[in-house]
Amino acid sequence: MKSWMWRNIWDEKSMSATMRSQNLYSLLTLFIVLIHQLTIVDGSYCPSDCKCDDETLMVNCNEGHLDVLPIALNPSIQRLVIKNNKIKTIDSSIQFYSELIFLDLSYNHLIHIPERTFQYQKKLQELHLNHNKIGAISNKTLNGLTSLTVLNLRGNFLDSLDDEVFVQLGKLEELNLGANRITKIAPNAFKGLNNLRLLYLDDNILTIMPIIALKSMSNLAEFYAGTNSFTTIPKGTFSEMNGLTKLELKGAGLRNISEGSFEGLENLRILDLSDNHLEKVPTEEMGSLTRLEELYLGQNDFTVIKEDALKGLNNLKTLEITGTLNLKTVEKGAFNTNTNLETLNLSSNKKLEEIQEGALSGLPHLKTVILRENALTSLPEGMFPWSELKTLDISSNTFHCDCKILWLKNLVASKNATNEGLDNILCSSPEILKDQPLRSVSADVLGCDHSDPHKQAIIAAVLVGVAASITALVLLLFHCRKRIREALKGGWGNSALGRKEREYQKTFHEDDYMTRFNQNSCSLVHPNQFNYNNGQNVRPIPVTEL
Ligand SMILES: *[C@@H]1O[C@H](CO)[C@@H](O)[C@H](O)[C@H]1NC(C)=O
Ligand SMILES: *[C@@H]1O[C@H](CO)[C@@H](O)[C@H](O)[C@H]1NC(C)=O
Ligand SMILES: *[C@@H]1O[C@H](CO)[C@@H](O)[C@H](O)[C@H]1NC(C)=O
Ligand SMILES: *[C@@H]1O[C@H](CO)[C@@H](O)[C@H](O)[C@H]1NC(C)=O
Repeated sequence: MKSWMWRNIWDEKSMSATMRSQNLYSLLTLFIVLIHQLTIVDGSYCPSDCKCDDETLMVNCNEGHLDVLPIALNPSIQRLVIKNNKIKTIDSSIQFYSELIFLDLSYNHLIHIPERTFQYQKKLQELHLNHNKIGAISNKTLNGLTSLTVLNLRGNFLDSLDDEVFVQLGKLEELNLGANRITKIAPNAFKGLNNLRLLYLDDNILTIMPIIALKSMSNLAEFYAGTNSFTTIPKGTFSEMNGLTKLELKGAGLRNISEGSFEGLENLRILDLSDNHLEKVPTEEMGSLTRLEELYLGQNDFTVIKEDALKGLNNLKTLEITGTLNLKTVEKGAFNTNTNLETLNLSSNKKLEEIQEGALSGLPHLKTVILRENALTSLPEGMFPWSELKTLDISSNTFHCDCKILWLKNLVASKNATNEGLDNILCSSPEILKDQPLRSVSADVLGCDHSDPHKQAIIAAVLVGVAASITALVLLLFHCRKRIREALKGGWGNSALGRKEREYQKTFHEDDYMTRFNQNSCSLVHPNQFNYNNGQNVRPIPVTEL
């Protein structure tokens, strides 16, 4: 009994057919409906699978088998949610609920929405029809929805959008047409959507950007156009979308981007170009996006990130280039102008074997660097600007464990085991160290002469000290040679060699010379302390005499 009461008895066609065949039966039906209408006056009818709250004016029906809209609910309800049921059509019973603000009929079996279905829903603000089987909407389907701000038609079977299908929705802010089968968008399809902020056209079968249709979208803030088959973005596509802050073109089939494609996007903050077929980083094409803060470029076909690859993107904070299977090299100075970079995610680039020294230098704000799952064999020391770095993940690479990465071993050892990205670094080569954690390999095994940089520093200091002492001793001996000679007089001082030496010294104006070197003391004197006023005939040594 209950289930057919919900059926569409207000539908004129079925009514007249019923009347022709079973007059009494239909009278009975009417009677039952009347009784129901009376009970509604109490405001308390509620289908068994639903929760009806007459205070908050909400009806929420569980996943179930409802195949038509319940007609006997409280007519004042404002919020009706019947997700995951088997509703095939929105019949005229919807007209009872003219106070609705929120209607969610997602995940049902809706195929067709008759024209003017919502003409009494003047207050409706959100309409969720996503994940049904709706094949078309006409320019009268959405008539009457003058307060609507959110329309979700994601996951339906729409294949084209005709002119002015949304023309009545002057207040619409969010329109989701993603995951349909749209191949064609008429030039005036979006006419009237003067307040639209979010537009989802992703996951359709578009081959050309609907440039003309998009022209009127000056208030658009976010545009999702990924998972289509565009091949290229023509120049000027976004030229009037000055308010756009987010542009998603992930998996959009792009082979290249024309110069001037991103013209007009002076407020863009987020750009996703990942999962396309770009054979080079579109450096010039993106150069005008000076406000860009987040950029996703992974899963493309380029092999190198060249010096100054992201020139002009001075405000970039997050860069993600992951899953780029042909990428081999990140050149020195690749991110030269991106001095505000905070997060760099270069993971899962299976052929990435070289990040040149200096590739990450001059990036003082880097906080997070993810280099996991690449093919790195080594990393130059001093590669990372450590000042603000908080997260470094270099796990799952193919490190060649030799003395060149001793610094890395020391770093790993100094960090606590909680640091996942540093904890699990394994050696790939040489063969003898294969699959050994770098953490556990000793410096000697890495082939380093001196295991500890501190020890090395100490040894260096000692060497310098010894050299200095020897120099000092030599100088001291030189200055004191007179006294030493005197002390040795009578010894080898009388020998022919001694005499010869004395004569030799005399030719060098011995007296002058000795005054300058403070002849009265046999200590080392700093040249600045030379006192030229000590003697009367003192003169500076001419350069030629030295
Ligand atoms: C709506 O579409 C029909 C045909 O599909 C057309 O004849 C009519 O002019 C359109 N109305 C408006 C207001 O665009
Ligand atoms: C982009 O690619 C298409 C087809 O692959 C080609 O015809 C066109 O010349 C390319 N444009 C640029 C700017 O490289
Ligand atoms: C880095 O990128 C991978 C792949 O897109 C993602 O799964 C991961 O969460 C990212 N990590 C960070 C820290 O952004
Ligand atoms: C790790 O950190 C904890 C506390 O932060 C400390 O007690 C522990 O000794 C550290 N372990 C190593 C190996 O440094």
